[in-house]
Amino acid sequence: MEFRESKTRENLMRAFAGECQARTRYTFAASAARSAGLHWVERVFRFTADQEKEHAELFYKLLAQCEGENIHIDGAYPVENTAWTPDRLLRSAQHNEYEEAHTVYPSFAQTARTEGFAAAAATFAMIAEIEQTHGDRFGQLAQRAEENRLFTSDQDTVWMCLNCGHVHYGRQAPGVCPVCKHVQGYFVRVEGSEILVPRM
Ligand SMILES: [Fe+2]
Ligand SMILES: [Fe+2]
Repeated sequence: MEFRESKTRENLMRAFAGECQARTRYTFAASAARSAGLHWVERVFRFTADQEKEHAELFYKLLAQCEGENIHIDGAYPVENTAWTPDRLLRSAQHNEYEEAHTVYPSFAQTARTEGFAAAAATFAMIAEIEQTHGDRFGQLAQRAEENRLFTSDQDTVWMCLNCGHVHYGRQAPGVCPVCKHVQGYFVRVEGSEILVPRM
């Protein structure tokens, strides 16, 4: 099939639009988390936003042969900024990631396979897997935020202050970092967060 007449051409533009919007929504959410003093949550949103930008670029590059054209698409995209509370933003993010991971990108991958566009099919399928990990990460944080457990644990835990690197061991993050005096919102569980702990 000619790429010009394919559904894949439109799906790539839909995916590009969706990734651009996800990235932008996550920067809004990061600002909301920062305002709430939740610096770890802010960092997770920013880290994920950067990855969405990379997804956008991958999809965009697959449209290179359409240079100079406008591609008309329809699509449904979420409005969710009715409540700027971090736990709601995290749940919405989880929901949207899972929609991409379970429904949207697998279906785009299938269409691309059927139409004979292997590179696009592989990219949709691999990015679907990434969105699954994004959804899992947002979901875990959402649950902790909802249960008021962002800074407490059932067991002794290694916590790190994102500002100065102070390490605390215990069931609860300090209310204020004893070294740099930054608020509790700077503390993060080190376990499970290793890739994100270095300062961005
Ligand atoms: Fe993405
Ligand atoms: Fe994602």
